[in-house]
Amino acid sequence: MSAEIIDGKAFAEQLRGRIAERVAQFVAQAKRKPGLAVVLVGEDPASQVYVRSKGKATVAAGMESFEHRLPATTGEDDIIALVSRLNADPKVDAILVQLPLPSGMDDKKVIATIDPAKDVDGFTIANAGRLAVGEDALVPCTPLGSLMLLKDRLGDLSGLEAVVVGRSNIVGKPMAQLLLQENCTVTIAHSRTRNLAEVVRRGDIVVAAVGRAEMIRGDWLKPGATVIDVGINRVDGKLVGDVAFADAAHVAGAITPVPGGVGPMTIALLLRNTLVAAHAREGLPAPVGL
Ligand code: GUN
Repeated sequence: MSAEIIDGKAFAEQLRGRIAERVAQFVAQAKRKPGLAVVLVGEDPASQVYVRSKGKATVAAGMESFEHRLPATTGEDDIIALVSRLNADPKVDAILVQLPLPSGMDDKKVIATIDPAKDVDGFTIANAGRLAVGEDALVPCTPLGSLMLLKDRLGDLSGLEAVVVGRSNIVGKPMAQLLLQENCTVTIAHSRTRNLAEVVRRGDIVVAAVGRAEMIRGDWLKPGATVIDVGINRVDGKLVGDVAFADAAHVAGAITPVPGGVGPMTIALLLRNTLVAAHAREGLPAPVGL
């Protein structure tokens, strides 16, 4: 094995420390804590784990966590009514509706209800559009965390070939936008891409976000590539990424592990986005260096 292991867990811990310091400064100025409201509908076990971790991290950073757990039988109108109340609640700076919503519910309609100023996931059309045209936006946490790890390892990304595998609104598309802003030459590959291995082999940077266990093999990679594995797949009770880690580590220059890579960064960036939203709502300048 030759690749450097990118320690997202350690990076996220340091970032959370810096965020906690800034939260304390915010509390001194605004005389209140930043508040994050999380809405979880149904009993999806993975979502329950995520929501619990998010709540704990929010409180640990000195912020207020408001959890709303609703049964899977809740009507779409009731969820929309809850989001509307959270939009109007002055103690709530940021709203996260955990996805996926139970089947039959319209994710798009619920997300469209979130006030873009409180859209901590950056999922509203307003924030996605602002990101696309290069204006200040709340940006989805997973791609933002992935970009931080890339810049930490590679510095200036200008001119690098970046291949994003996956085209979801949550990861693939915003990741591509961020890499484009960093002046990468960006390819978005997906399930219909022909000669996927060849396309991936172009990448100095490869971001894997397809949700298929160990799909990307070592011999698909350009030697020395930096590989960010966003996948979290459960196989025989074990978590694995979208990249065949042991195989890829012989070829890549650096790679994120699963778990301990991107996952902890997503939570840290959720705290950062909450703090950014809180500053904007108070009319304070955005915190820098986070
Ligand atoms: N489900 C999986 N990832 C995410 C995320 O980043 N935000 C929300 N709201 N739901 C998710």
